[in-house]
Amino acid sequence: MICSLNEKINDKLGRVFEELSLNKKFALIKNSDRPDLSDFQCNGALALAKEEKKNPRQIAEMIAEKLCEDKDFAKVSVDGPGFLNIVVSDAFLAANADDIAKDERYGCPCVVEPKTIILDYGGPNVAKEMHVGHLRSGVIGESVRRIEEFVGNKPISDVHFGDWGTPIGMILAEVIAHDGNLDRIENYDIAVITKFYKQANIRCKEDEEAKETARIITAKFQDGDAEYLRAWKHIRKVSIDAVKENYKELGVHFDLWLGESDAHKTCFEVKKIAEEKGLLELDEGAYIIRLDEGNKPKPPVIVVKSSGAIGYQVTDVATIKMRVDDLKADEIVYFTDKRQQLHFEQVFEVAEKLGIAPNVKLRHIGFGTVNGPDGKPFKTRDGGVMTLDDMIKMSKEKVAESMPKAGDESGFSEEELDKLIHQVTIGAIKFQDLKNNISSGYIFDLNDFANFEGKTGPYIQYAVARINSILRKNSDLFGGKIIVTNKEERDLMLKLSQFGVVVLRAEEEKEPSIISEYIYSLAQIFSVFYNTSSIKDAKNKDIASSRLSLAKLTKNVLVKGLWLLGIEAPEVMPKA
Ligand code: ARG
Repeated sequence: MICSLNEKINDKLGRVFEELSLNKKFALIKNSDRPDLSDFQCNGALALAKEEKKNPRQIAEMIAEKLCEDKDFAKVSVDGPGFLNIVVSDAFLAANADDIAKDERYGCPCVVEPKTIILDYGGPNVAKEMHVGHLRSGVIGESVRRIEEFVGNKPISDVHFGDWGTPIGMILAEVIAHDGNLDRIENYDIAVITKFYKQANIRCKEDEEAKETARIITAKFQDGDAEYLRAWKHIRKVSIDAVKENYKELGVHFDLWLGESDAHKTCFEVKKIAEEKGLLELDEGAYIIRLDEGNKPKPPVIVVKSSGAIGYQVTDVATIKMRVDDLKADEIVYFTDKRQQLHFEQVFEVAEKLGIAPNVKLRHIGFGTVNGPDGKPFKTRDGGVMTLDDMIKMSKEKVAESMPKAGDESGFSEEELDKLIHQVTIGAIKFQDLKNNISSGYIFDLNDFANFEGKTGPYIQYAVARINSILRKNSDLFGGKIIVTNKEERDLMLKLSQFGVVVLRAEEEKEPSIISEYIYSLAQIFSVFYNTSSIKDAKNKDIASSRLSLAKLTKNVLVKGLWLLGIEAPEVMPKA
């Protein structure tokens, strides 16, 4: 495994610090804040000066003098109170580009201590068609899963199906009210079950008695009533089958298809632990755990409801216990709408109080909502909730508008075109979701998201297809050593050298937008390079061949970046 350019420079810097008997922990570079002046900077002298009570500029000058002896640095200067500015030599930069071109990880190191990380995303519920609100959790979670895998961690993704709550009791009560019993339930498909659930929702809003019946049924099936459980099994199965189709279309993968129901037994272990620790209280017929008031009072967590049923919160606590005991989790990360923040704060606090996840990092990543162009949650034209299916269908129609017709003229068969429309649509939807900081919401604008210009998925897919076409046309020039002959080549190499740093930061922050930002800017820098650095009209074959190697490396990094976001890169695109 090779190391990234930043690591190579940190290494050199570390050695100089050692020679000068300076504390090595400050020997760290970062990308320059002034790319017009330098490639990298090190602010370590300032921190060192504080620690050693010395003049920072003097320290920086000492370091600079030593660094200048290394021919891999073209220029090292000291700026302001003691910032070190570093410009690497062209030869060093080119050799690094050659190194990463040969590396299947493109200079991205693996983590030193691999961790088992449970990723909890998706979180759909039984009998509810998936809507736009479910899009983000799956898209963000899938990207983080790929990032974790790529850096060498062991991610395990779990859909955590919502299959154990009152909605089931409501559906069963509704079917019984309609049919008199549950005999026919196995004949009902997802559409019928969803309709029952919708009716139940309306009924329970107005009718206290219906609500109570649903509560009683919920407690009974959770308690193992055979008739109810048989019906539950069917509802769960048809719901999961439907959801699997949706996730397949979106390219979202789960290692585990567990649900709230799988935590049932453990919920009672949780209750027992709470009891033993003296944390369980009986409050108006319900068992609860009170939380610390702190500076923000939080409502207590309900362990068993007064009806005897298990609720959402305790299933999450129990699931943490299972993930720690059975899956040996080092870290558990949840991806849900920001509105569930309090829920997770409560759950994490209970886990801590009960001591069921010692040394396990629990993290909730909350994201904003997907809005329509009017700034309100995305709806269908007639004001209904937009299902995920509808949204994908609508998006595909939009993408198809900018595609040629199948046939001899376009060179695409019907089948190829269908596949292309699918790849571009999903790429556009995902990129639109992952291009901004995930905590903010975004506006889903059909006129914008699939544009081939601007910060979109298709723009980057197109850049890849264009490079593929360049590579095909120049196949006789393959394999050249990378050299620097102009600024645009240099800029591109510097950007390419940052891939590893970018991926590691995205992993650390669980923030795929760091990668989307990077590949977008890489595609732009490539475009400037390609417009100024001709392959065909290069002065000689060495230069032409180096440029081709750079194009190939750029393509590989773009494809890997897209993959990390969960986006496919079509080999060819129209007019590329
Ligand atoms: N099913 C839940 C909902 O629709 C989301 C589940 C999120 N994951 C979790 N472990 N609570 O709100």
